[in-house]
Amino acid sequence: MEAVRVTDNIYWVGAIDWNIRNFHGYTTPRGSTYNAYLMTGEKNILIDTVKRPFLEQLLARIRSVIDPKDIDLIISNHTEMDHSSSLLEMQKLTGAKVLASRKGKEGLALHYPELNVEAVEDGAEIRCGGKTLRFIDTPMLHWPDSMFTYVPEDKLLFSMDAFGQHYATNARFDDQVDEGILFQEAAKYYANIILPFGARVVKTLEKASQLDIQILATSHGVIWRKNLPRILKAYSDWGSGVTKEKAVVVYDSMWGSTTTMAEHIADGIASRGVEVEVLKLGETDRSWVIKEVLDARAVVVGTPTINNTMFPSVADLVFYLKGLRPKGRIGAVFGSYGWGGGGTKAVREQLQAAGLELPLEDLQVNYVPHEAEKAKCMEMGRRIAELIKKS
Ligand code: FEO
Repeated sequence: MEAVRVTDNIYWVGAIDWNIRNFHGYTTPRGSTYNAYLMTGEKNILIDTVKRPFLEQLLARIRSVIDPKDIDLIISNHTEMDHSSSLLEMQKLTGAKVLASRKGKEGLALHYPELNVEAVEDGAEIRCGGKTLRFIDTPMLHWPDSMFTYVPEDKLLFSMDAFGQHYATNARFDDQVDEGILFQEAAKYYANIILPFGARVVKTLEKASQLDIQILATSHGVIWRKNLPRILKAYSDWGSGVTKEKAVVVYDSMWGSTTTMAEHIADGIASRGVEVEVLKLGETDRSWVIKEVLDARAVVVGTPTINNTMFPSVADLVFYLKGLRPKGRIGAVFGSYGWGGGGTKAVREQLQAAGLELPLEDLQVNYVPHEAEKAKCMEMGRRIAELIKKS
């Protein structure tokens, strides 16, 4: 396994995790990478490590450039274990000091009490191989400890999780992969990891706008060097809550009634020229649903009633939505019931708690949607489309 040169003295020395399909609850059908970087010079500096089971990959790639024992300094941009869990082994092997943000030092001490860590202040710089490494705190993007490391001479930003994608590939750069897949994975990553921190994203982009950046060396997936304006614009839009004329109709169904309702609501939405995505839970996991919600102006949730409340898969989704707090979206609720009802009411409460505005009354059908109810579903769809167009 070999390192990949990024600039004259900076190498990618990370690991490819082809097989991960669930990253702490976020489904990753394309696997992931844990990107670490090596900077060589009068000092040899390792920027981040990899998830512990992949330590051998890290060491092999470093060995293709230098003896790992010759590493003088390690920078930890983020405490989460997919990047930090090989720090202790690397420090034992090299004796190198670890530098982290102030919050990073605190977090790393809790995870790895034996680790020797020194805190660096926001804006502090060190020199290596004729180049500068400047540390930039980016709290809550997406942990309190998160920081960027910037190399002005290479116009390169080690951006940590920001701009990442869970995308296992042997390609290392954005111009070597399918751009459709790349942006789809970048959007899914943002929606599932970074969505609650939109205000922080906007602030960080303002801070980063003072930097001349040509390479974004992220910690997951491929390095950005061609599509920088596009990914920066995407982050700016996502961070500011920019959406388009699009609705997501997401639901589950026991005997097909809620499916029939979803399809008619979607038809009503589409009949007004608004884009609509219909997703059935059980067939579609919540990580993908949230990716579709990212640029949608309306989220329309349907549930059958079971035991006087919503269906469990719908509960899972609305609970997840509540945590991710998508702002500025319209919500609407529909569903079917047999006798007591209660499903739509339970969904409404959770969507309100998630911060969605719910201007329409819930639409409920007893047992089976006959023609009159199908017409009501179409009408609900048309009204949702009109609200989307007005907002
Ligand atoms: Fe890739 Fe927040 O860790």
